[in-house]
Amino acid sequence: MERLDKILSSTGRWSRKEVKELIRMGRVTVDGVPAGSPEDKANRNGSDIRVDGERIPVDRYTYIMLHKPAGLVSATEDPREPTVLSLLPEHLQKIGLFPAGRLDKDTVGLLLLTNDGALAHDLLSPKKHVDKTYLVRTERDLDAADVRAFQEGMTLADGYRCLPAALELQGEGEALVTLHEGKYHQIKRMCAARGKPVVFLKRLTFGPLMLDENLAPGEWRELTGEERQSLDCRHVVRPLGE
Ligand code: URA
Repeated sequence: MERLDKILSSTGRWSRKEVKELIRMGRVTVDGVPAGSPEDKANRNGSDIRVDGERIPVDRYTYIMLHKPAGLVSATEDPREPTVLSLLPEHLQKIGLFPAGRLDKDTVGLLLLTNDGALAHDLLSPKKHVDKTYLVRTERDLDAADVRAFQEGMTLADGYRCLPAALELQGEGEALVTLHEGKYHQIKRMCAARGKPVVFLKRLTFGPLMLDENLAPGEWRELTGEERQSLDCRHVVRPLGE
């Protein structure tokens, strides 16, 4: 059980002061009963908390799938460039969301935003080898020799030896690359090492998550229960309320 004002203000929609005022005006109910005080206790997971009759989602953590467009940086703040957070409504910019991993400014596709630090840590841990699949277009077409080089684990210009990666040729100058690690500019550096610079890069999957085709670049939605469950199956999300 937690204080009602703390729960409601953690949604980013209202400050503690505003919550106090809403409660004073009788606009907040908990399980159908008007709240009497900001200090009333409620249960994030079990209680039906409403403001003006609208049920307010009060999960401790938020998980957002974003179709990142080109031109935004994968960060929470940047002195010069607009960040991916600028695509979210104001209240979601105030609840500590951050991108779980980075896509380059010119890379598009699936980006997970969350305020669940432990989950992000697990997903990004080099030990977990969470797979990521990208659609890539290169200046010159990738071929069977590149497939073998990716499979064998190639060495980059700086001497880094990559883990074996899957390269599937798709025709028409496109290929799918699946990485089991995530080093800085990795795909660009791998393709450059083959003499075939990347001209377009889009992330399609991140662990068990697949980019929702209904999301246009710049659009986002919360993960479905099933998607969250799929992260659970990998033992990377702790139960709600922990
Ligand atoms: N590899 C890259 O080179 N860039 C990205 O944004 C992601 C993977």
